[in-house]
Amino acid sequence: MSGPLETPRLEATGLSKRYKGRVVLDDVGFSVAQGELVAILGPSGAGKTTLFRCLTGLTAPDEGSVRIGGAAVTKDAGRARRRVAIVFQHYNLVGRLSTLDNVLAGRLGHVSAWRGITRRFSRRDRLLALDCLDRVGLLSFATARADTLSGGQQQRVAIARALAQSADVIIADEPIASLDPTAAAGVLDLLRGIALSDGVGVVCSLHQTHFARSHSDRIVGLAQGRVVFDGPADAFDEAAAIRLYATPISEPDPSLNPTPRFQDIHP
Ligand SMILES: Nc1ncnc2c1ncn2[C@@H]1O[C@H](COP(=O)(O)OP(=O)(O)O)[C@@H](O)[C@H]1O
Ligand SMILES: [Mg+2]
Repeated sequence: MSGPLETPRLEATGLSKRYKGRVVLDDVGFSVAQGELVAILGPSGAGKTTLFRCLTGLTAPDEGSVRIGGAAVTKDAGRARRRVAIVFQHYNLVGRLSTLDNVLAGRLGHVSAWRGITRRFSRRDRLLALDCLDRVGLLSFATARADTLSGGQQQRVAIARALAQSADVIIADEPIASLDPTAAAGVLDLLRGIALSDGVGVVCSLHQTHFARSHSDRIVGLAQGRVVFDGPADAFDEAAAIRLYATPISEPDPSLNPTPRFQDIHP
């Protein structure tokens, strides 16, 4: 789908970040092509969330740059930031609002301030939001309060909201860490499908290496703020996993609750 002449959906170059003199990101660079799902793997504290905050313009890196579809992302560059949709571990929905209203929030970057404040979205925006809900299989839940849905369903609403944003890139920070294996696979299937059908670049941090191998095109391994692996998902073998985690690769075991091994010490 993507050729070498195509502008990458996302390009991070030489990202470095220090907190109180401590290096959290060290010269991190990678790119995401159109239609590509890149999994970010790495133990807790590796710098994944800090990296994502730099990719979305929430945090300014000390050095380096991020480009989305060729436009620089900075804290002030609203237009470039709008081109990035974010999916969070805990969904970040407004529980008392309907799923449709939550999806419409994805349009806020596209409508005038008064429409956003008064929630007067156009018919076109409402139809788009309904279509996004349909694509994640939740059209019949359009009027349900978001907090009445299961975790997996709520994450699919968050993905519909990201879709409604019509972004070039979707950044998902541990989107399946709170889900059971079936719901987790459903969410990753959706993200993969969106990348392929819409040409969106997806960056997704995961704790389960088997999901990274089954659902991503490429894996970027981050350890102590440095990229220690960047290659095709099927090249992420036992040796690469040991280098990254200093433990062998995790195998899928449906009988186990997939609580991430490294999540416990996540700040
Ligand atoms: N705002 C902050 N101030 C100081 N230290 C931070 C801040 N955010 C993250 N860190 C530190 O940076 C390191 C990387 O954290 P993080 O990016 O959350 O890693 P990960 O998401 O891979 O677990 C951790 O040691 C964390 O404590
Ligand atoms: Mg994190």
